[in-house]
Amino acid sequence: MIKVLQKILFLFAATSLSCVAAPFEDSMAQRLQACTGCHGAQGRAGPDGYYPRLAGKPVGYLYNQLLNIREGRRHYALMEGLLEPLSNAYLLEIAQHFSKLEVPYPSPLPASAPQELLARGRTLVTQGDPGQEVPPCQQCHGEALTGAAPHVPGLLGLPRDYLNAQLGGWRSGQRRAQSPDCMGHIANRLSNRDVAAVTHWLAAQPVPANAKPLAALPAWPTGTKALHCGSAAVASAMATVAVTPQVLTPQAAQGAYLARLGNCETCHTALGGTPYAGQRPIETPFGTAYSTNLTPDPATGLGNWTKDDFWQALHHGQAKDGRLLSPVFPYPSYTRVTREDADALFAYLQNLPPANQPRRPARMRWPFGTQTALRAWQTLFFTPQDFQPDAAQSKVWNRGAYLVNGLGHCGECHTPRNLLGATQQAKALSGGLIPMQNWLAPSLLSSAAAGIDARHLGDTLQLLKSGHASQDTSNGPMALVVQGSTQYLNAADLQAMGVYLQSLTPSGKQVKPKASAKTAAANHASSAPAVLTNVAELYVKHCADCHGRQGQGVPGAYPALANNRAVLSADTSNLIQTVLHGGFAPVTQANPKPFGMPPMMLMLSDAEIAQVLSYLRNSWGNQSAPVTESEVSRLRERQASR
Ligand code: HEC
Ligand code: HEC
Ligand code: HEC
Ligand code: HEC
Ligand code: HEC
Repeated sequence: MIKVLQKILFLFAATSLSCVAAPFEDSMAQRLQACTGCHGAQGRAGPDGYYPRLAGKPVGYLYNQLLNIREGRRHYALMEGLLEPLSNAYLLEIAQHFSKLEVPYPSPLPASAPQELLARGRTLVTQGDPGQEVPPCQQCHGEALTGAAPHVPGLLGLPRDYLNAQLGGWRSGQRRAQSPDCMGHIANRLSNRDVAAVTHWLAAQPVPANAKPLAALPAWPTGTKALHCGSAAVASAMATVAVTPQVLTPQAAQGAYLARLGNCETCHTALGGTPYAGQRPIETPFGTAYSTNLTPDPATGLGNWTKDDFWQALHHGQAKDGRLLSPVFPYPSYTRVTREDADALFAYLQNLPPANQPRRPARMRWPFGTQTALRAWQTLFFTPQDFQPDAAQSKVWNRGAYLVNGLGHCGECHTPRNLLGATQQAKALSGGLIPMQNWLAPSLLSSAAAGIDARHLGDTLQLLKSGHASQDTSNGPMALVVQGSTQYLNAADLQAMGVYLQSLTPSGKQVKPKASAKTAAANHASSAPAVLTNVAELYVKHCADCHGRQGQGVPGAYPALANNRAVLSADTSNLIQTVLHGGFAPVTQANPKPFGMPPMMLMLSDAEIAQVLSYLRNSWGNQSAPVTESEVSRLRERQASR
C-alpha cells in the first residue's frame, strides 16, 4: 500500500513541486504548501481517488474534518502530526481558505455498472430506503447534492474510490464524526451492494455549473423522523473559537500563570476534551498512563481536596487517599515548587468550571504501576525536596534555576533516564531520548547541541517565546512545550531562564559535533561529481522552493538550513524525523500562522532522504558527518510498527 502511494505521490510531486520556484509571497496558499503537496494544487484533489479535494467544500465541514483528524475520530497519521501544534483558530482559518477556492471539477467518468445497480443507487440518493432506516441522501446533502452550509459536504465530483473508502471507513470505525454520528448510522444500514450502487451512481453524475452548498440544511418533511448529526454543532463551535478571559483573584491569576509554566493543561486535557478534565493517554515504556481530572468536580476531580492535599501530591507524590502517584506526573521536578506557588496553583484550579469526568485506570505492564512497585520506586529514586537557592549566584540566576528545575520540568525530557525510568540526576540536563517518540531532547549543557551560548542566546529565547527563530524551529515534543508553556513566560522570567541556561554551557567554547569535520572532508573527497549533481537536483526539486537554493531560507517563514544547528547536529534522529514527517512550527501568540513543511515520507525513499540530508550537512559551509540510509530506515520502521 505504502509503496503504491509512494509511486503515485512521486509522479505527482514531479509535476507539482518541481515547477520553477515561485517568488515567495506571504499568503495562506504559501503557508499551506505542506497540504497541497498531497491534496493537489489549490486543494483541487490528488491525481487519483486517494487524496480528497478540499477546494470549495463547506467551511464547517472542512473545520470538522481537521478536528476529527487531530482528535482521532478520523485516522490519517501523517496529517495528525501536522495538525497537532496548530490552534483551533488557525484550523478554522485554514478551512476558510480552502472553502473559498473556486476551481473547476473534473468531468465524471462514464458509469461502468449494470443499469439495475445504478437504478438502486439513484433510488437511495433520491428516496432512501425507509425499511432500512436510510433517509434519502438528498435530505441532507441537498437536492442538487452540492451540500449545505455549514457542515454537510457535496457528494458530486468525488472519485468512486474515495466515496467507497469513506462509507467503508464509517462501517469499520476508521472514520467517525461528532456524535450523534448520522453518517455512521446510515453507512451501517447500507448493504455492500447498496454502497456499490450509491457510489457508482454518484461518481457518474456531473457537477452542476456554479455548484455551491445550500445556505442551510433543508427541513425534514413533516411526518418523517429526523436523523440528527452532531457535526451540526460546528456552527456554534466556530463562534467560540476565541475564549473569553476569566476574572480571577490575584492569587488565582498568579496560579494561572504558574499552571502555564508547569504545562499542566497540555497533559491534563484529552485531545478535543474539556480543559483540565484529564484522560489524556501518555505512552511510556512500561505502559499507558492517563492524566486525571484537576477541575473542582467533587466526585471525579479535586472538589473535595484541600490545599494541603494538593501540596502532598505536588511535593510528596501522594494523592489525597494516600495512593502513591506515578512519576509520569512529573512530581520529581514539581517537588521543588514553593508552598506559596503550590497554593496559588490550587486556587486557580479550584476556579475552573467543574467537569464530571472519571479517572481512567492506567494500563501498565505488571508490576509497574502497582502500589508496591511505586513504593519501591519512590524509595530508590525520589526524595521530596525544597528548591535550594545558591547564595553565590544572582537573584535572577536563582529564579531561572527554580523555573527550569521546578515547574518548567525541563529535565523530565532533557535528562537521561535509567532502566526504571528515573532521571539520572548526576547527568542532569545532559540530553535524553524521549521513550516511545524517537525524539532526542538535546543536552542543554552543550552549545552545539541546543544552541544556548552567548552568540545564540537571543535566538534561543525567541524560540522559547515564539517557537521559531531565523535559524531554527521547535519541533516534536518541544513544539508542545513552547506552545503550552514557555510562550507565556513574562519578560523577567524568560530572561532569568536564559541567564541560568547560559551558565550551564561552557561559554565562548564552540563545540563542533563529534567527528564531523573529518568525515565531512573525507566524504567530499570520495563523492564523484556526478552523484553530487544528482543530489543537488533532488534538493532543488524538493526543498529549494522553500529553503532557498543556497539554504538561506526565508526570514519569518522558512528556516535557513545553512549553518543550522538542527541540520548539523551529531545525533541525526530529530533531523530525520522532521524530514520524514514534515510539520509546522507551533502556533504561538507571536507566531499565530506558521508555515508548513510537507512530509517527505511518501515522496522520497530512505536512500534519497539520506542523500539529501548528507548534502545539506556538507553544503553552504556546513560540515557534518553524512546520514546513512539505515539510520533513515530505522526511524521509518519504528514509526510504521507503532
Ligand atoms: C501525506 C499526504 C497528506 C498531507 C500532507 C495532508 N493531507 Fe489532508 N488528507 C490526506 C488523506 C489521504 C486524506 C483522506 C483520509 C481519509 O480517507 O480519511 C486527507 C483528508 C483531509 C481532509 C478531509 C477531506 C474531506 O473531504 O473529508 C481535510 C480537510 C484535509 N485532509 C486537510 C489537510 C490540510 C489542511 C493539510 C495541511 C495542514 C493536509 N490535509 C495535509 C492526505 C494528506
Ligand atoms: C441526516 C443527514 C444526512 C443524510 C441523510 C446523509 N448524509 Fe452523508 N453526510 C452528512 C454529514 C453531516 C456529513 C459530514 C460528516 C462529517 O462531519 O464527517 C456527511 C458526509 C458524507 C460523506 C463524506 C464526504 C466526504 O467528502 O468525505 C459521504 C460519502 C456521504 N455523506 C454519503 C451519503 C450518502 C451516500 C447518503 C445517502 C445514502 C447520505 N450521505 C445521507 C449528513 C447526511
Ligand atoms: C507529563 C504529563 C503531566 C504534566 C505536565 C502534569 N501532570 Fe499531573 N498527572 C499526570 C498523570 C499521568 C497523573 C496520574 C498519576 C497517577 O494516577 O498515578 C497526574 C496526576 C496529578 C495529580 C493527582 C490527582 C489525583 O486525583 O490523584 C495532581 C494533583 C496533578 N497531577 C497536578 C498537576 C499540576 C498542578 C500540574 C502542572 C504544574 C501537572 N499535574 C502537570 C501527568 C501530568
Ligand atoms: C516533553 C519533553 C521536553 C520538555 C519538558 C522540554 N523539552 Fe526542550 N526539547 C525537547 C526536544 C524533543 C527537543 C528537540 C526539538 C527539536 O529538534 O526541534 C528540545 C529542544 C530544546 C532546545 C533546543 C532548541 C529547539 O527548540 O530545538 C532548547 C533550548 C530546549 N529544548 C529548552 C528547554 C527548556 C528550557 C525546557 C523547560 C522549560 C524544555 N526544553 C523542556 C523536549 C523537551
Ligand atoms: C513547502 C515548503 C517546504 C519544503 C518544500 C521543504 N521544507 Fe523544510 N521546512 C519548512 C518549514 C515551514 C519548516 C519549519 C517547520 C518545522 O520545522 O516543522 C521546515 C523545517 C525544516 C527543517 C528543520 C529545521 C529546524 O531548524 O528545525 C529541516 C532540516 C528541513 N526543513 C529540511 C528540508 C528538506 C531536506 C527538504 C526537501 C527534501 C525540505 N525541508 C522541504 C518548509 C519546507
